[in-house]
Amino acid sequence: MAVHSQVRWFAAALFGVCLVVVSAAATPVPLPPKAAIASGHPLATQAGLDVIAQGGNAFDAAVAVSAVLAVVEPASSGVGGGGFYLLHVAATGHDVMVDGRETAPMAATRDMYAGRAEGSTAGPLAAGIPGEPAAWAWVASHYGRLPLATSLKSAIRIARDGFELYPRLQNAIRVKQKQLLQSPDAAGVFLLKGAVPPVGARIRQPLLAGTLELLAREGADGFYKGAFAAKLAAGVRKDGGLWTVDDLARYRVIERAPLRLHYGDATLVTASPPSSGGVVIGDALAILAGYDLASLDANTRRHLTIEALRRAYRDRAEYLGDPDFVQIPLELLLSSQYAAGQRTSIRLDRATPSSVLRPVYTGDESPSTTHFSVLDREGNRVGATVSINLFFGATYMVPGTGFMLNDTMDDFAVSAGTPNAFGLVGADANAIAPGKRALSSMTPTFVERPSGLLIIGSPGGSTIISNVLGGILNWLDGKSAAEIVAAPRVHHQYLPDSVMLEPGALNAEERADLERRGHKLHDGRSSWGNTQVVTWDYGSGKVEAASDPRGAGVGLVY
Ligand code: DON
Repeated sequence: MAVHSQVRWFAAALFGVCLVVVSAAATPVPLPPKAAIASGHPLATQAGLDVIAQGGNAFDAAVAVSAVLAVVEPASSGVGGGGFYLLHVAATGHDVMVDGRETAPMAATRDMYAGRAEGSTAGPLAAGIPGEPAAWAWVASHYGRLPLATSLKSAIRIARDGFELYPRLQNAIRVKQKQLLQSPDAAGVFLLKGAVPPVGARIRQPLLAGTLELLAREGADGFYKGAFAAKLAAGVRKDGGLWTVDDLARYRVIERAPLRLHYGDATLVTASPPSSGGVVIGDALAILAGYDLASLDANTRRHLTIEALRRAYRDRAEYLGDPDFVQIPLELLLSSQYAAGQRTSIRLDRATPSSVLRPVYTGDESPSTTHFSVLDREGNRVGATVSINLFFGATYMVPGTGFMLNDTMDDFAVSAGTPNAFGLVGADANAIAPGKRALSSMTPTFVERPSGLLIIGSPGGSTIISNVLGGILNWLDGKSAAEIVAAPRVHHQYLPDSVMLEPGALNAEERADLERRGHKLHDGRSSWGNTQVVTWDYGSGKVEAASDPRGAGVGLVY
């Protein structure tokens, strides 16, 4: 049982932040005049709107959008990965997180990657048991209105007929060209006689179309049981992985209560563990709630947000993991008393070195993982972040299946204190164990205040959480959907102890201000995140959908 489902209330009213069990929305809101979808690719956004036009709801659209993303963003998410689907059912006010996160195979052991430099990021040993196919089937049958097969139609067609290679995917292919060459099925799809295909080349995936057709025909059982599961397990084992048919047969999605947080007049419904996103955002907001941010200048606000993130990411490293395996002190981490304690070490004029916080590096962004946001005209909402972890996941395809396996095992703390691909460190709470889900940063989030609604999320590994927090604060400041996705990104994650900046994120004066306070600045080589936002202003009825200008996606209102 999820730890947070035991949480009743805990008072943080003093500073305006609290956590309660998710319950029906208190105030009735009007119906949205339009449906809206923002996703990482125009074909996915369109497939979602098509399903709504055919009488489907936001949940059918979510299945269609994820399935098309699995085809057109094969470096980012797919049948071989997993993710979190945050749903709001308008008719009942019910909020739920469908946890389709990958699980460690039952033969996994705590030290399985010791002495294997790339073991947790490449090849079949890096792959957890996929959750995304099970999540599609679950969402379709429990919340959708259309058969799974209908919602998968666009994805099957695009996999079979192909789509045009675009620069962002071409870049991912270039980065992983060497590894793709080692997997004949993958090389056949993504390379042209071993070379990176030009932009505009048609990417056809007939094997993937076959796997999607199997799902459409037989549902999740077609994937997790029988001949297909046997082929997957045998393929993985032949190349050094640990999967068994039993691992696949025992995979289940878990319905979890999302975290519900209050900040000022806003209510956040956000990802609960095994995502760290909601807890880190709640921890940081509880710290920030002790300041009157509106009265502070932008530089001081930025400094305080960095200091709040530093402390919240430290707590992530120490306490967070799969709630079915570890006891997470959620009430403590989100309480105003704890936040007040954290604030005592924050100086307005000076950065706190991470090394002086009680002890427990980040690489540049890869365009893997993807988020989408959906609102339908009944008021149903979906925020979903799905992933195969790094570019093309494990860069490994079981022959004949047509999809990349994830390398999500790297999201575990593979050994205490050793940073993962995102520079995140972790402790026992996130150690590998059979059947366990690795701690995630994926943070699909709904924010509601009396005047309107925000649906937000992004890829970006460890930077997802600071990105989503920044988007929430910008929305509360009155920024539009387009402004939120375009806003420059500033990130801190406790370790490494530096403020990571996108190129051009801050001007000279803003940089100097942070340096004067003692922050070390680290200039990222490229930008990060691919934020997908839907907003709805209850007063004017205006619905907006915006896709991050850093990506190739589109937000459309219907
Ligand atoms: O679950 C997580 O936190 C990671 N597997 C997400 C990876 C990711 O966002 C990669 N993105 N750029």
